This record gives sequence, C-alpha cells and structure tokens, in this order.
Amino acid sequence: MEAIIRPDKESAAKLVEMIIAAELRRNPSMVLGLATGRTMEEVYRLLAKAYGEGRLDFSLCRTFNLDEYVGLQPSDPHSYRYYMNERLFKQVNVDTRNTHLPNGLAPDLDAECRQYEEKIKRCGGIDLQLLGIGKAGHIGFNEPLSALLSRTRVKTLSPTTVEQNAEFFGGAGNVPSRAITMGVGTILDCRRCILMATGYGKAAVIAKAVEGPITSMISATALQLHSRCTVVVDEEAASQLQEVDYYKWVFENEPEWEEFR
Ligand code: F6R
Repeated sequence: MEAIIRPDKESAAKLVEMIIAAELRRNPSMVLGLATGRTMEEVYRLLAKAYGEGRLDFSLCRTFNLDEYVGLQPSDPHSYRYYMNERLFKQVNVDTRNTHLPNGLAPDLDAECRQYEEKIKRCGGIDLQLLGIGKAGHIGFNEPLSALLSRTRVKTLSPTTVEQNAEFFGGAGNVPSRAITMGVGTILDCRRCILMATGYGKAAVIAKAVEGPITSMISATALQLHSRCTVVVDEEAASQLQEVDYYKWVFENEPEWEEFR
C-alpha cells in the first residue's frame, strides 16, 4: 500500500482522475471498477470534462460498480444506477450496455450476486477499482465483520452507514436497510485499487485503515494485503497518519509518480 497526500480535496480528485485517465489511455478496453458517494463526485466531473475536451475515450471501456441498494428502481434518484448515469455515464461516450451495477430488484438476490461475480470474471476481472471509505471503515458496503474473503452478497447496513447516508433520503428511517455489495475478496481480486478520502471526518478511519491492524471490523484494512493499492487523501484526511513525511517523500521522489506530480 502507498499513501499519497495532496494539499486539498480538489487536487486529490485531480490525481485520481489522472491515474484513471493514464490507465484508460494505456488500455482503452479496461475494466473499471466504480464507487458512488460524495467523495467521487469531483472525480467524475473531471473525467467528464476530460472527455468533453477530447482527452479521453470511454467507447471500449467496461465498468462495474461496487454496490447498489436493494429495492430501488434505477429511475429512483437515490439509486446508485441513477447517480452513475447522471454523473458519469451520460456525460461520456461509454456504451451503457457495458456498464454494470448489481440489480437490487432481482427476484432472487443470491442468484444476482453469483451472476455479478460471473460477469466480472467473464470480462477478465477488474483492472482498476475506485474506492471510497465509510466513517466506520467500510469499502463498498462491507460493514463490520465482513469476511475478508467475502464475495458479492447482500449486506444489512450498519447504523453508522445509515446515519452517513440519511441526508440523501430525508432521514435515517428512509434509508434502505440492505444493499448488494462486492465482497472484500472480490475487491482484493482487482488488479489495482485506488482508495480516496478527503476531509477531517475521514482522518480517524484513514489512520486505522492505512496504519492499523487488519481486522474484519474495518474492511478497508484488508487493502493492506493488496499488492497494488494506492490511498489518495487530502491533508485533512491525512491528519492522523503517523508517517506523513515518509509518504510525501515517496510521492515526490519515486519515478513511478513523476508524470503525476
Ligand atoms: C459507494 C460505496 C461506499 C462509499 C463510502 C464513502 O458506492 O461503496 O463505500 O464510497 O461510504 O462515501 P462518501 O464518499 O459519501 O463519504
């Protein structure tokens, strides 16, 4: 794992956009794993801008999202399908038939989860998975005690997650209680992971995820097992990390990061 600290949330999002753009230019038919949430909004705005300016082409790209609520129509503005359509898919030239989210309305949810895993496999696996982190440490909706080798399945949302997402639904009582999510094991199978977090609200959980012991209580800690995971944070989210100077030195000096500095 490596941690990259940018001065503010705009430059953190810019770096994530640059990493995705570089991968997409190298491999136009890449399989891109996507996340929703507040943190990703700026990343998608920048990707759409790059497409609008003729700097990116999504026509061959395939996408898989991490998760979707159970019971919401794709036309529901709270659904993750709606979020993705509005913020990215309608803004770029991706073929919507190549965009995948779990179907939270499937009559047999377990079968849907199995099929989602199979679809990822048929596409050759995910090349780059974008991840946010919840205040209690989830990636996707892998809530506390999610098995570190778990696959796509239905999870019940924890009270912290319900609280975190309550403002979108006009109160905690309206938040769906369950979601389909890629498992921690599904995420660990991705060839590259980018975890992004910004703001003081994420500082404590980022310190645990990056420097704390691996535990199923905080599914993001499992990323320490991944051979190619980059954590991109702003100064605020980095404010409780111990080894900030070392992480900054690596970013400023490693040749790998030259084109991104
Ligand atoms: C969303 C997802 C979640 C979010 C996380 C952070 O698809 O899988 O894990 O990435 O809850 O959400 P924000 O960015 O709203 O703080």
